[in-house]
Amino acid sequence: MTALDKLFENNKKWSSKMSQTHEGFFEKLASQQKPEYLWIGCSDSRVPANELIGLLPGEVFVHRNVANMVIHTDFNCLSVMQYAVEHLKVKHIIVCGHYGCGGVQAAIDNSTEGFINNWLHHLRDIYNTHADAFDAIIDPSEKNDMLCEMNVIEQVKNVCRSTVVKEAWKKGQDLTVHGLIYNIGNGLLQDLDISVKCFQNLKSIIRKGVSRTLNVEE
Ligand code: CO
Repeated sequence: MTALDKLFENNKKWSSKMSQTHEGFFEKLASQQKPEYLWIGCSDSRVPANELIGLLPGEVFVHRNVANMVIHTDFNCLSVMQYAVEHLKVKHIIVCGHYGCGGVQAAIDNSTEGFINNWLHHLRDIYNTHADAFDAIIDPSEKNDMLCEMNVIEQVKNVCRSTVVKEAWKKGQDLTVHGLIYNIGNGLLQDLDISVKCFQNLKSIIRKGVSRTLNVEE
């Protein structure tokens, strides 16, 4: 008996169920993957990419990190994006945040030390840029919600400004970047309505998204 026995047992059951319900499933996947979506989400165990959008293995390429961030010096995330866009030719990049994000809360509380603290500085930058709007909110969970949404908007902007995406658009590649937010409390996704299809529209879409989230006039 090892600590992972349960997982191996689950895996065997899953594998045989998939083979029974989808003929030739693993044989097909072994030779290729053709996902249409790249998912950039939070590492939070309550936000599993494939499950919550009902997609099978092979249908979504996934990158997850603490608080679903796309940082221009993060070669891990940038490599995933490059592979997804240049080789897999995904048609959609989805940045998905979630309400009640622990990373976002830790940034607000300033409660971390070590590497993660550096990582979360990116969130504090967003907070500080709009400090008036955030400081005006008294309810802690409302404040968390707002920073979760603002973070998604910021990361959509970062995806669109990345060399990988800019180059793809320049070449006329069909690629849309979306910003979604997931509600852990009811399992539902919400579109933040900031989908960007070309670099020219980026600024106005982001500006509108920010005004909506901060509830201020444009
Ligand atoms: Co999170």
